[in-house]
Amino acid sequence: MVIVMARVICITNQKGGVGKTTTSVNLSYFLAKDKNRVLLVDLDPQGNATSGLGVQKTDLDASMTEVMLGAAALVDVVLQTSFKNFDLAPTTPQLANAEVEMAKMKQKFVVLKKALMSVQDNYDYIIIDSPPSLSLLTVNGMIASDYLILPVQTEFYALEGVAQLLESMAMVKKAMNPDLKLLGVLATMYDKRTSLSVEVLAEVKKYFKDKVFRTTIPRNVRVAEAPSHGVPVGDYDKFSKGAKAYRDFAREVEERTGR
Ligand SMILES: Nc1ncnc2c1ncn2[C@@H]1O[C@H](COP(=O)(O)OP(=O)(O)OP(=O)(O)O)[C@@H](O)[C@H]1O
Ligand SMILES: [Mg+2]
Repeated sequence: MVIVMARVICITNQKGGVGKTTTSVNLSYFLAKDKNRVLLVDLDPQGNATSGLGVQKTDLDASMTEVMLGAAALVDVVLQTSFKNFDLAPTTPQLANAEVEMAKMKQKFVVLKKALMSVQDNYDYIIIDSPPSLSLLTVNGMIASDYLILPVQTEFYALEGVAQLLESMAMVKKAMNPDLKLLGVLATMYDKRTSLSVEVLAEVKKYFKDKVFRTTIPRNVRVAEAPSHGVPVGDYDKFSKGAKAYRDFAREVEERTGR
């Protein structure tokens, strides 16, 4: 029997509201739909991925908050979603306080990496949704990952802060995780009818060249509506443009990770 270790992918950009959570949830959904065993780790105290999948944070006995404090094992907080092959490690707002506690820990940078080791064999992909900051949580995400995906919103200031993010990535590579790779850059909320979107995408391509995914995610109201129904857009409206784009994107991720 061949044991396959999970590909670990951190979805990150310290800029807020660029589509990290939307991408984490929908990429996970379509990878699972394609028969990959997927774990989505919600590493953002805002817990948008958790609530976007219909999980009530107040009902949770334990979550990533306890995992990051070493007070619970990851396997014990993982929930099955209503979708086949798609598990979730949910979070609570208290993860923000936990981060302060973590800062005092000796091995504070490798808490997540160690936690993931215990479930590596159970999944084909582990997707990490990270907060809009270059905080200790985000650094934990980068150190635990094989790849980063950088979503950029095709709006003004799309590349603002990107240099800083690449610096953090370089630091993580040098100090802790030499094999970390940028899997690609995903243009989100793209509107081909506006010249701004088109210009920004051209600028992003100039900067990142073939690192930019072929698929762009269109601005699509169904994508924004789905979380309030507690489901990914692929389940909410599988014929929507947003669902189609995330399906194509998941295929591209499979290609680039050799699956
Ligand atoms: N393709 C899209 N079309 C329309 N709305 C979108 C699309 N992608 C994301 N949105 C909406 O934009 C907002 C920000 O998206 P999202 O929460 O995924 O960003 P984020 O980077 O995770 O934000 P944060 O930095 O706060 O964690 C949300 O309201 C989401 O529903
Ligand atoms: Mg988010």
